[in-house]
This record gives sequence, structure tokens and C-alpha cells, in this order.
Amino acid sequence: MSTPTTWNAVDDFLVAHLLPTDPALDAALADSAAAGLPAIAVSPTQGKLLHLMARLRGARTILEIGTLGGYSTIWLARALPADGSLVTLELDPHHAAIARRNLDRAGVGARVTIEVGAALDTLPTLVARPERFDFIFIDADKANVPAYYEWSLKLATAGAAIIVDNAIRRGDVTATASVDPHTLGLRALFAALAADARVDATAIQTVGHKGYDGFLLAVVR
Ligand code: SAH
Ligand code: DHB
Ligand code: MG
Repeated sequence: MSTPTTWNAVDDFLVAHLLPTDPALDAALADSAAAGLPAIAVSPTQGKLLHLMARLRGARTILEIGTLGGYSTIWLARALPADGSLVTLELDPHHAAIARRNLDRAGVGARVTIEVGAALDTLPTLVARPERFDFIFIDADKANVPAYYEWSLKLATAGAAIIVDNAIRRGDVTATASVDPHTLGLRALFAALAADARVDATAIQTVGHKGYDGFLLAVVR
């Protein structure tokens, strides 16, 4: 039986072997912490997984919902070709300001637009614009995940990948009696997906530095 101690040791092993030292990513995390942002960015191995999935998809346009300090944003923006673009949505202007500095230092700032505001307000403005997205990462407030998923489908290209972070939450996703709005949001998303012919979807459980959680992956038909 593995334990969280094992998960952390294995994550360290994977980082040591597979993720070269990366000053821009390290600085993004250090400055985010110094600015008081919560330490809830994707882990390094998760960030690289997102990056590689965006490359596998050949994504030229990426949408992220939930920027924080831009750690996952840097990983995703690095997957883009030189003429690619990424739009990331963030409620908190302080988070957005830290993210802007981190993105610029990482050399991806010119490819990234940060839209500050509640995502439920900025998503409709995106639908009104022509740009559509090949890869969408949903990682903001969990209560609104079902709504973010619906907006994502409106904004997605055919064959787009939609990834949802924190899809398992220590197993809370199965807690039928839960009244936690985050858990309710995730459960509502899975309930909707059970009868959704617009995508092919799976979810995968993960362990490591962010504990026990998981990703949902939906590919638009
Ligand atoms: N994707 C980031 C982590 C995002 S944490 C990374 O892995 O590096 C979640 C972020 O969503 C926080 O910065 C929070 O301020 C933001 N958020 C919360 N509610 C939101 C809303 N209604 N609209 C947009 N962003 C929101
Ligand atoms: C937490 C982790 C996340 O990845 C997130 O998006 C929000 C919260 C957490 O551990 O609390
Ligand atoms: Mg998350």
C-alpha cells in the first residue's frame, strides 16, 4: 500500500529525471508565494503533462479558466507555435498582475492575454469574438465547473481537448451526501457527461505533490 510519503518521493524522482531545472517556472512559483497567492498551482509533473497534451493536440489556440500566478499558463503557452495564442481568465486582479510578470519573465507574455473578471462574465464576450480554441483547461472555482464546461463547448473547435483539474478531490466526487459546492459542481459535471453525446470523455485519478485528485479529459466530436 503506497502512502502520501511515497507519492511525494516518486514525484520528486520523476521531477529529477524528467523535468530539467527551469528558472522561469521556479521564479513564477517563488514570486506567487511571496505575493501571498495560495500554493494550488498544478504540480510540475502535471504542468508538463498539460504541456505535452497541448502539443499532442497540435493546439494553436488555448483557453485557460483560472490563471492564479500563471504557472500552468507558462506550461501551456510553451506548447504553442510561434503564431499561437492563449487566453486565460482570472477573477482576482492581484493574481492577474503577478501572472503577467511571471509570463513576461518566462518569455511567453506576447502570446498570452489575461482577461480579468468573473469567468461567467468574460466567457460570453469570448463567444462574441471569432477566436475558437483547440485546447481548454478548466481550473477556477469548482462550483461553476458545469457552466464552464458548457461555455467551453461553445468556444471549442471540432476535436478540441477540454481538461478539468481537480476532478476527483480526494474521492469527494463520489460523496453523494456532500453539500460542499465544489463537490456538487464536480458531481453535476459528471452527471451531465453521462448523457453527453458531444464529447468522448474519461477521467484519470492522480497522486503526488497535490495529494489524491485527478483530471477529466473530454475530446469534442
Ligand atoms: N491554473 C492555475 C491555478 C488556478 S487556481 C495553475 O495551475 O497554475 C484557481 C484560480 O481561479 C484562482 O486564481 C482564482 O482567483 C480563480 N478564480 C476563482 N473564481 C473565479 C471566477 N469566478 N472567474 C475566474 N477566475 C476565478
Ligand atoms: C485546490 C487545488 C486546486 O488545484 C485548485 O484548482 C483549487 C484548490 C486545493 O488543494 O485546495
Ligand atoms: Mg486546480
